[in-house]
Amino acid sequence: MTDTAAITAKNRAAWDASARHHGTGPYWDALVAGFADPTYSRFDQTLTDALVKAGVQGAKAVQVGCNNGREVLSLCALGAAECWGVDQSAAFLAQAEALKTISGHNATFLEADIYALPPDTPRDFDLCLITIGVLNWMPDLPRFFQVVAGLLRPGGRLVIYETHPMLEMFDPASDTPHLPAFSYFKSDAFVETAAITYDGSEHSAGPEAHWFVHTLGTIVQGAIDAGLSLTSLREFPQSIREVDYDIYTNRDAQLPMSFLLTATKT
Ligand SMILES: C[S@@+](CC[C@H](N)C(=O)[O-])C[C@H]1O[C@@H](n2cnc3c(N)ncnc32)[C@H](O)[C@@H]1O
Repeated sequence: MTDTAAITAKNRAAWDASARHHGTGPYWDALVAGFADPTYSRFDQTLTDALVKAGVQGAKAVQVGCNNGREVLSLCALGAAECWGVDQSAAFLAQAEALKTISGHNATFLEADIYALPPDTPRDFDLCLITIGVLNWMPDLPRFFQVVAGLLRPGGRLVIYETHPMLEMFDPASDTPHLPAFSYFKSDAFVETAAITYDGSEHSAGPEAHWFVHTLGTIVQGAIDAGLSLTSLREFPQSIREVDYDIYTNRDAQLPMSFLLTATKT
């Protein structure tokens, strides 16, 4: 049986250690400069369109796995009336609070393991957003979707914009990066000990982190079993992940790089 709490505790330590690699430098400077403008958003057009269609304007919205809050603040910029972000990394939420102050937006950041939310967490959100690099940190995906569905009011919308699971079959650092390296159905975790960074610039060791591959079928089934009714599922050739995956873009034999799923709580 998966010891979810033990795994999420290890992942929390890994993400807390990662925060210092992202709180200075060009990436951070761009966020600081951007959020000085309250209309600033980090969403691309695909996600912006999906959020507008899902009713972001005036919504009570929550992002699960919000990291440094850049997308919670982007939800505010898109016109959400009340914005929450949930993440278990205190170090990244400190960065979220700093960006919030710069932006002037009124967001709430909740430090919690998604599998152990405080009892007074609101359960009446109109909209829940999940983006790149969250589903793979979840050791128990069916339970994750039960929690996510529990955050939404009846009729509330879920929007997921994530890396495509097929990409997990490939290793950009391999000598043969275009040959599949891992099974699409890999059921045990990748255990990483390199520091987590978005640009691959830091190669020092970090706390052990556990990363899980979930097939597209497992993701869709998890949502359905949690009482979410699918409204769309689209796959894209565009990359939304780390720069080392750019080698898989613009190819004749193109892999799916990302997907967008929307669902409604019945
Ligand atoms: C890749 S980051 C998300 C980045 C975000 N999608 C963005 O684009 O700004 C993944 C986040 O999930 C959080 N996380 C991982 N496991 C979690 C858990 N069990 N509960 C809450 N947050 C978790 C990590 O702390 C980390 O901040």
